Amino acid sequence: MPNVRDRWAIANWKMNLLPSQTAGYFERLRACLQETQVSVAVCPPYPHLPAATAAAAGSRIRIGAQNLSDQPQGAFTGEVSAAMLQDVGVSLVLVGHSERRRWFGEDDALVAAKMRVALEHGLCPVVCVGEGLEERKAGRTQPWLQHQLQPLWEVAQAFPQLPWLIAYEPVWAIGTGEAATPAIAQETIAFIRQQAEQHVGAPAATLPILYGGSVDPDNASALALQPELDGFLVGGASLNPEAFAAIVEALTVVKA
Ligand code: PGA
Repeated sequence: MPNVRDRWAIANWKMNLLPSQTAGYFERLRACLQETQVSVAVCPPYPHLPAATAAAAGSRIRIGAQNLSDQPQGAFTGEVSAAMLQDVGVSLVLVGHSERRRWFGEDDALVAAKMRVALEHGLCPVVCVGEGLEERKAGRTQPWLQHQLQPLWEVAQAFPQLPWLIAYEPVWAIGTGEAATPAIAQETIAFIRQQAEQHVGAPAATLPILYGGSVDPDNASALALQPELDGFLVGGASLNPEAFAAIVEALTVVKA
């Protein structure tokens, strides 16, 4: 059966590049992106967002944020709301990235609350899950992921018509240069999809599930061939627009 799910390539700049470098990045990215069916998104830091939405205007590149508040508005110093993101032309948002979970204490309940707020405001949440090295080595990957995914299903059930994405990002592969093998990515994403089928039923068949963790132009093709993998969330390699475009290109592969 042909794969009916959309393919995605999402750039996560993390806390890199300056607002003044944004326009130049997009100029280069637009110059080397082929006409492609792949859905491409770039997630710069907050201060870059207006420049990014302006630079992406007239292209198919979507702009995403890296985080959002779980609160709608009010006295929450330093926070940024879903409505603010929407107002500057952002259409998707990363939620629960492992760096948010690790360094900023985001737990599974907060991640689910952020996913809900995003959906309520018409933003497409890209919810990140993934096990650490300890869980992987101890053979506890599946229960770990089940635990992270559990609160998300309830939110997904409440918004059955709205798009969202899952990014499987094993913590041991992020920023280490050691991507998961294609076999591990395939097997783990298949497990996540099977969980999705159990909890949300038919929509699981069209839920894009991406892989993230040290994706680069050299390893992207072998990973992209995996039938369950619907795209990439790319950190370090996405800072170079030519490298990111090569990763987008790898996703145009025809799968068996
Ligand atoms: P990396 O980051 O590509 O630099 O490993 C991926 C991510 O954290 O989203």
